[in-house]
This record gives sequence, C-alpha cells and structure tokens, in this order.
Amino acid sequence: FVHSEARDALKFLLNAAIAVDKQGKIAGIEDARADVNVAKKLLLKRLGWKEDELDIYACKPGQFFFPGFIDTHVHASQYPIVGVFGESSLLEWLEKYVFPTEAKLEDCATADKVYTACVQRTLAHGTTTAAYYATIHVPATKLLADRCLRLGQRAFIGRVCMDDRELCPLYLRDKTSKESLDNTSEIIDYIKHIDPHYEIVSPILTPRFAPACSPTVMSGLAKIHQAQGLPVQTHISENAAEVELVAKRFPDAGSYAKVYDNYGLLTPKTILAHAVHLTEGEASLISTRKSKVSHCPCSNSALASGEARVRWMWDRGIDVGLGTDMSGGYSPSVLVAARQAVLVSRHLAMGRSDGEAKSKLTVAEVLYLATRGGAKVVGLENKIGGFEVGKEWDAQLVGLRIVGGGNIGESGQQKAEEKYEDSGNVDLFEWDTWDRKVAKWVYNGDDRNTKKVWVKGRLVHQRP
Ligand code: GUN
Ligand code: FE
Repeated sequence: FVHSEARDALKFLLNAAIAVDKQGKIAGIEDARADVNVAKKLLLKRLGWKEDELDIYACKPGQFFFPGFIDTHVHASQYPIVGVFGESSLLEWLEKYVFPTEAKLEDCATADKVYTACVQRTLAHGTTTAAYYATIHVPATKLLADRCLRLGQRAFIGRVCMDDRELCPLYLRDKTSKESLDNTSEIIDYIKHIDPHYEIVSPILTPRFAPACSPTVMSGLAKIHQAQGLPVQTHISENAAEVELVAKRFPDAGSYAKVYDNYGLLTPKTILAHAVHLTEGEASLISTRKSKVSHCPCSNSALASGEARVRWMWDRGIDVGLGTDMSGGYSPSVLVAARQAVLVSRHLAMGRSDGEAKSKLTVAEVLYLATRGGAKVVGLENKIGGFEVGKEWDAQLVGLRIVGGGNIGESGQQKAEEKYEDSGNVDLFEWDTWDRKVAKWVYNGDDRNTKKVWVKGRLVHQRP
C-alpha cells in the first residue's frame, strides 16, 4: 500500500494487509510483517473477525494499492471534446467549442451517452471523486447525479449558473437570475432525494465564472451556501484576457478575487479553478478566507493560459488540489495531470536563478495533490485521500509489469502474471526501489495499469 504521509513524503506499507468493513470503511491495518499472510492472520485475529466476514486487501508483486484520485475540477459535459481545442485560447475556445457542445446536452439521450461515458472513463483512470460541472440544463444535470450514484463514483454535481447576456449565448443561458437560482434549488432538492446524506453524490453551487454571472445570481448562491453549507466552485484568473474582462466588468472591485469576495463567494468551501495570474493581494485574501485552489496544469498548457505557481500558493497558506479541467485539459486522467504538474513546475523554474527555482514539484508532491490535497480541497479530508482506520476505502489497485517475472520487490516470490499486451508502458526490474516504481508509474503509467477501483468499499471498475 502506498499513500501520502506528508506533502513531500510517500509512505510505503510493505507486507501489509487492510480490512474493510461492510460499510466500506477501513477497519484495521497490519503493516511491516514477515509476509502478507502473517499480516492477514494478525489482522483477522486482532479484529476478531472470520475470514469470510470482511474483505481483506493484499496484493501481488508488481502491484500496489493507492488512494483513489480526486479530480477537483472537471467538466463532465465537455467529455465529447476532450483533446479538441485547436489553436484557441480561453475566450474563443468557449465560444467556438465549449458552448455549442454544452448546448447539445439539453437533449437527455445525448446527456446520457456523454455522462455515462465520462463517468466510466474517469473511473477507469482511478478517479474515485470528481467535482463536476454539468451544464445549465436541469434534467441532464439530474441524470449526471443518477449516473454517478449508479456507477458508484463519489461526485459533486454542479448545475452551471450563467445568466449574463453579454457573455453567454442565447442558446446556452439562464433566461433570468431567478430561473438560475430556482433551477439550482431544484437540483439540490433532487440530490437530497436520491442520496439524503450526500454519501456518494452531493450538490455544489456553480457560478461558471464572474463574467458569466449577474450580481443577483452570485449573491443568491452565496445565500444558499450560508443557509445549507453547500460547497461552491468557480473559475478564477485563468487567462490574461479573462482577467482584463473582469476588471472592465467590475471596475470598482479592485481584483478578480475581490469580485467573488464582495458577493460572499470566497468561503472555506469554495474551490477556485486555475488561479494562474493571482496577485499577492489576491493570494492573501484567498488564504484569509481559507478558499481552496484546483490546479489544472493540462488545461493551462493546452489553452496557453499560463503556469500556476503551486509552491507559491502553498507558501501563502493556500490548500491546492489537482484538476483535469477536462476539456480545457486534454486528458480525463488525474495521473496525466499529476505528470503535467511536475512539468509545469519545472518550466517555472527554467532559466531562473531567483526563488522560482524552488518551484519544482516532486513525484511525492504531485501525488499528494492528487489525493490528500484534493481531499482537503473538496472538504473530505476526514473521509478519503489516504489509508487510515476509519477512512473510507476509495482506492485503486495499480499493476506494473515485471520484466522476466519473479523475485521482485520486498515480498516477491511469485511469478509475474502480466501479459505484455495489456501491461501498459511501465516495466519494472528487480532492482527498482519503491520510490522508483512509483516514479515510473507517474511518468509512464496509464489506465492499463489501473486494475481495479473501489469507492466506499464497492468495486466500481475492473479491467477485463
Ligand atoms: N471559464 C469559464 N468557463 C470555463 C470552462 O468551461 N472551462 C475553463 N477551463 N474555463 C472556463
Ligand atoms: Fe474549467
């Protein structure tokens, strides 16, 4: 079992076993035993459970369990155009690709196709929790909540609020601010009905971004947040032209972050996507309000938005997680986002003799962003993100190919079973240390290595 112990340190639980109870919670962990079977026996004895009473998780050489990935910013509705952005950047991209695609989801049959494929695909990449943007459409947004619940993906479901007449096209716009707020309430009521304790799906208030929303909608959503404690998600400071547009629209606010703060939307439960071009003053305000940031490196590279400074934000006390921002991001995979987070941080460091050189992120740090960091960003740090007794079993089984098979790793006596054709891009050699195995996975792994995925103890994906 591998998980983040601290922001800069992975912990390797070797010759270990974990017991998960019928509620999907981790009931016990035995670590560092003579071998896995000893760990298993000790665990059963300590819990006083019989072998058939509970699931015990233990794995083979070349495999390890890792916490499920948390995608803190993803547009389910944009799955049909993942990887399609041409030469555009943010504002043209929205007009040319995004809005016409989202408009198609007014039709429920289309929404069903898109959302089912999106949830299946992201589960296959190990995403056990997603903070989703749907569209303005009520029936399709309900359908997304249904699909997540049925397929077993933990999800925050955001009906997108966008009522600004200048920015939003007539064909994809809440016709009035009242309609925008009423439709949001309808989604909240619906999710409460299908999952009363928000165990798997929960609503999230989603003003698309400041230029798309009227002041009435922004303050109306803030009121709902205060009354019901629901989380909020939006975009901030993604691209230079967008920042300029916000300054023009809200000339008295003083900054992009202040616009949200003025309408009561900078809260400890707010997820701000991108945060590429924040000023010192904005970082300080966001930190004071304890709002969170979703770092979306694939998107920021694809749309040429810029390089968000993760360590700079950490240094200012801001919690950060990872987002694919599909389809601004070209991949549905959080593993790819983690990889790209390393590369973006290294671009920040290039050619700079000043403090930016320390912007480089390590493998351990980007995996923290993808799990524990993300858990904090979505407010579930007590439930998910790592392997501790009492946390829920949201996990993935990762399998890497052992070249030549056999005798690998600290517990390895068995022959490798992986066939070449389905083993992915990662080859392990018997001298690879655990640090190196994980680094190889981060840089060369893909969904072929994601063998099984669980949410709250339920097996939700398995490679055939
Ligand atoms: N800003 C407003 N809407 C969007 C969107 O759909 N994607 C991204 N990346 N930025 C946005
Ligand atoms: Fe986005």
